[in-house]
Amino acid sequence: MSPMGKMADDVEGRRSRPPDSGTAADGGTAAGGGARGRHSFVVVASRLPVDRIENPEGGTDWRPSPGGLVTALEPVMREAAGVWIGWSGDAGPAPGPFRANGLDLVGVGLSVDQIRDYYEGFCNATLWPLYHDVISPPQFHRRWWDAYVSVNRSFAQAAVAQAAPGATVWVHDYQLQLVPRMVREQRSDVRIGFFNHIPFPGYEIFAQLPWRRQVVEGLLGADLLGFQRRADAANFLRACRRAAGLVTRGSAVLADRSCREVRAAAFPISIDSAALEEIARREDVRKRAAEIRLALDQPDTLLLGIDRLDYTKGILHRLNAYGELLNEGRLGPRVVLVQVASPSRERVEAYQALREDVEQTVSRINGEYAEVGSSPVHYLHQSYPREEMAALYLATDVMLVTPLRDGMNLVAKEYVSCRYDENGTLVLSEFTGAADELSGAFLVNPHDIEGLKDAIVRAATVSPAEARRRMRSMRKRVREHDVVDWAASFLDALGRVRG
Ligand code: G6P
Repeated sequence: MSPMGKMADDVEGRRSRPPDSGTAADGGTAAGGGARGRHSFVVVASRLPVDRIENPEGGTDWRPSPGGLVTALEPVMREAAGVWIGWSGDAGPAPGPFRANGLDLVGVGLSVDQIRDYYEGFCNATLWPLYHDVISPPQFHRRWWDAYVSVNRSFAQAAVAQAAPGATVWVHDYQLQLVPRMVREQRSDVRIGFFNHIPFPGYEIFAQLPWRRQVVEGLLGADLLGFQRRADAANFLRACRRAAGLVTRGSAVLADRSCREVRAAAFPISIDSAALEEIARREDVRKRAAEIRLALDQPDTLLLGIDRLDYTKGILHRLNAYGELLNEGRLGPRVVLVQVASPSRERVEAYQALREDVEQTVSRINGEYAEVGSSPVHYLHQSYPREEMAALYLATDVMLVTPLRDGMNLVAKEYVSCRYDENGTLVLSEFTGAADELSGAFLVNPHDIEGLKDAIVRAATVSPAEARRRMRSMRKRVREHDVVDWAASFLDALGRVRG
């Protein structure tokens, strides 16, 4: 059974629901002006949960791209006549509304210029570095901002056209921060939630954004704003006071002259832990894990990093720490690091520069410490299916999750979900959302190379009993707070905000 099919069965009885809404109907007369649709639950996310593939007859097929979000929301979508609005990832006009994998989908089209200015520009070269502690310098261009406004408007229009009277609209992530207000201006009848999957920066950093007030006001079109960590929600509330001169009371903001209250709070996201564990327990996956260790010549210690190739992930810091440990011989002679770095945002300059730096560092380490027939770093610039990832997690002794800044980091949660054997240790950056929850990890400041090295050595040499105790506590946490609970708690809170 597919992970998604399994998911739908599993959630019986604790299924997340959108708050009660008006009848799903074509047309209608709800307040607020604007068009009407027939969907009582509308997900608005940067990406569609499917990838376009050209079939041999020259037509288009859609293959599910099972991300965490669709796994969480699929049961709600099915139950509540839901629709998912997103971009297909290609240039060109939007595909009309279509069904794929049993879900109603609506594409938003982006032109070549919009991909350059909105996606590669404002989303990934302005907001992404700004919201991740300016690890890479953000660029501010007025043309990119204009594209951001106009693409946000296209998403908002699509949401307005699909939402039934009284519907729930759930908008996701930094690419779409203006959508809540744009929808509210046309549809005061709908309930609007927004979830930010990445960090929300401290005000001293956020204040650099020339359009900070517009972004805050855009977000405040929502009834409920969800963040990964309490610190992110607190940063947002401070931005409301400082950038927009608004009054906040606890977790609430008085959003406008009508004194509408908007709540901002933490809802840490998770994964479908049970489905992933089921994959890890499969015989073929366990066999593959053994094959991986064999192919690496049965190392005494296997270290693993799995990341998108992104400068926020701290891959260079990790490689440098590892290189020094090899030099000092502190991990013994039979140690291997497998670093999976999946290709990402390859047309954005900072990502191209990072790839060069990472690849140079990997070859320097291998040049210095490899022997004929064995290399200390296995670098894989590829993406893998879930089965292969599960096998890698299972084969590992020490997992390295050491981002410089990360909203949550689901790799850490995936790793512990796969370790039903209760073996393996986790070195985890304190600058991830996951660090708030996974107290069984060896927590590190990835900027502190000596501290990072010590934590790797401790994680590699800890007694089996202590490793097991730590793993057990992390697994309990992830099992009890999975992605279905995340969606349910957000939607419940959204239902309560507007009574
Ligand atoms: C992060 C963001 C997502 C984004 C993903 C991949 O996880 O929170 O919103 O979709 O990265 O990035 P991409 O630019 O390929 O959509």
